[in-house]
Amino acid sequence: MDQIDRRSLLSAGLALSAAASATGAAAQRIARPGFLWGTAGAAYQVEGGNYASDIWALEHLTTPIFAEPSGDADDVYNRVHEDIALSASLGFNAHRFSIEWSRIEPEQGQISLAGIAYYRRVLESCHAHGLTPVVTYIHNSVPRWYAAGGGLSTPDGVAPFVRYCELVTRHLGDLIGVAATMNEPNIGALLSWSPAVTRLAPMIALAQTAARRQTGYPNWSSPMLDLLNPRQPITVEAHSRAYDAIKAISGDRFPVGVTLAINDDKPGLPTSGVEAKRAQVLAPWLAAPGDIVCVQNYTETRVGPTADMPPEPGQEVTQMGYAFAPQALEAVIRTVSQLTRRPIYVTENGIATEDDTRRVAFIKTAVAGVQRCVADGLDVRGYLHWSLLDNWEWTSGYRPKFGLVSVDRTTFRRTPKPSALLLGAIARAGGIA
Ligand code: BGC
Repeated sequence: MDQIDRRSLLSAGLALSAAASATGAAAQRIARPGFLWGTAGAAYQVEGGNYASDIWALEHLTTPIFAEPSGDADDVYNRVHEDIALSASLGFNAHRFSIEWSRIEPEQGQISLAGIAYYRRVLESCHAHGLTPVVTYIHNSVPRWYAAGGGLSTPDGVAPFVRYCELVTRHLGDLIGVAATMNEPNIGALLSWSPAVTRLAPMIALAQTAARRQTGYPNWSSPMLDLLNPRQPITVEAHSRAYDAIKAISGDRFPVGVTLAINDDKPGLPTSGVEAKRAQVLAPWLAAPGDIVCVQNYTETRVGPTADMPPEPGQEVTQMGYAFAPQALEAVIRTVSQLTRRPIYVTENGIATEDDTRRVAFIKTAVAGVQRCVADGLDVRGYLHWSLLDNWEWTSGYRPKFGLVSVDRTTFRRTPKPSALLLGAIARAGGIA
């Protein structure tokens, strides 16, 4: 805890009392025992120094697609126990993180026992602090050797992924609380509707060519570069076989699903592609095996006949250029509940902003929406905010600020923002009035 700015925890008492008054009435609070409140993060974005990852290799091409390298990230690798303690002290009872495959299997077939032991300590730390660990088996990053061999661009990529999932479950499954096989495998399908695709496509094509040429692996395929060429059938198969493998080992000890990126899609014009988009982005994944659905929502979109439309002129947008739409989460939960009977966990929801008062406003509206869903009988079992820490936001580098807690880029000192205290108070109270 010594790297955490304790003064800020005390001085942000103002936010805490605001939260407490906002959580006064009991009627709408979430009474469900075991409802998860917490934050979500991903290994590559926070741990630092994941040298054996495909993304590290991509970052060091002569034509990188990233605004800046990830480097030490938030040095979570060395500070994870402090961060877990901080989470618990804020009032949370859950902690989502991902396991970095390239730490566990840095070369094909070469298993790092130290890597496995590291994540075992992370899981133990969660339990010691009363946090249910929500574990993503892969979150965008894969080992270099896996990308070099073509990853999921070839059916041969399925077996190594399934073996890795088996390994993790065998060694760590006894401590996992909730699991997702992979993070947002539907993001490519989602992005294919976005107007940003025309800007991204040439940049990504350039990076793909550079990766193949500079690494010397002509079949190099990184999930990040495959964004615009989503291979859903192979990816669905990889998830399905991983799901079966995990369940064969762990039985019903913890629920397993997949996280899905879902915008609140609204018709932008009288002729709209909302249904077609849903069929592409959601349907294959809701039909795939899973005990739960992990919903990840950041915004709403107006959908035209064949593509998303930009936010309306004058609409507030976040640092990511998304419409500020905290109410979108409730709509998405309701949509998903109509499409499947599976329990829902919100495994990501958040806003990139330098102005924490907007995050406070965002959280209040988003959480109120979750509570209305629960009050209406929808089976929602958790709200995990993205993210505990400001972190490395992929191609955008460190500029977008998604964290409840800021991180000094030189000392790595953690400083909770008022929004951290607000969400912690909400978690303690079981909701907001
Ligand atoms: C991803 C995270 C990302 C977040 C914010 C999600 O789609 O899972 O890795 O940082 O969005 O953009």
